[in-house]
Amino acid sequence: MLRPSPAFFTSGLLWLATLALTAAEPDPLAQGRLIYLQHCVICHQAAGQGSPGTFPPLAKSDYLAADRKNGILSIVQGLSGPITVNGQNYNGAMPPFVLDDVQVAAVLTYIRSSWGNTGDAITADEVRDVRKKSRFPTLEKLKAAAAYLPLPAAVWTRATKGVFQLDADYYARSGGLFLPSAHYEAMFPARV
Ligand code: HEC
Repeated sequence: MLRPSPAFFTSGLLWLATLALTAAEPDPLAQGRLIYLQHCVICHQAAGQGSPGTFPPLAKSDYLAADRKNGILSIVQGLSGPITVNGQNYNGAMPPFVLDDVQVAAVLTYIRSSWGNTGDAITADEVRDVRKKSRFPTLEKLKAAAAYLPLPAAVWTRATKGVFQLDADYYARSGGLFLPSAHYEAMFPARV
């Protein structure tokens, strides 16, 4: 009769242990990298270098390093208006992202420890506390604002007509989620 070798059992146990570990504790860096690729890379680029004058760098960003709240707020409420990153001025707009506290913590932990950055980890509790005092105090409030009109539709439908103008009504009813058209014109100059 064929008997399974002890190695067979050992490898099975190892596999089970790995599975249990993965299910219980997803690696925040791996999760953060995935979120970065899904939501951020389009503007901030693969090595976090951004695009000079339009999208600020995350790699070695003094703005990101200066205050732990800076990164959290930029994701949970968006960021627009004049800022200076590594001596260069920006005056663009980044929309907020519908990501939960764990996801925001993961993507920030990833960018704060990538491309030469040496910031420590951001926790989900910290994100929750900062979010509470932000423009959208809960993820539900942000979701409700975002659901009013999906951002890409607002940008692309109007952009194809050659004129991009957000209705003041949409802007008001979304709770101020959508930014004035001048910001989008600056962000997507080729499309407008
Ligand atoms: C549509 C383009 C776009 C996307 C997508 C985007 N950003 Fe931004 N981001 C910007 C712009 C533009 C600014 C600067 C805003 C300003 O000038 O006030 C910015 C600023 C920032 C800043 C602060 C400035 C700095 O360089 O340190 C951080 C941190 C940041 N973004 C992180 C992220 C993260 C994390 C994601 C993904 C969850 C993301 N961004 C997705 C366009 C974008």
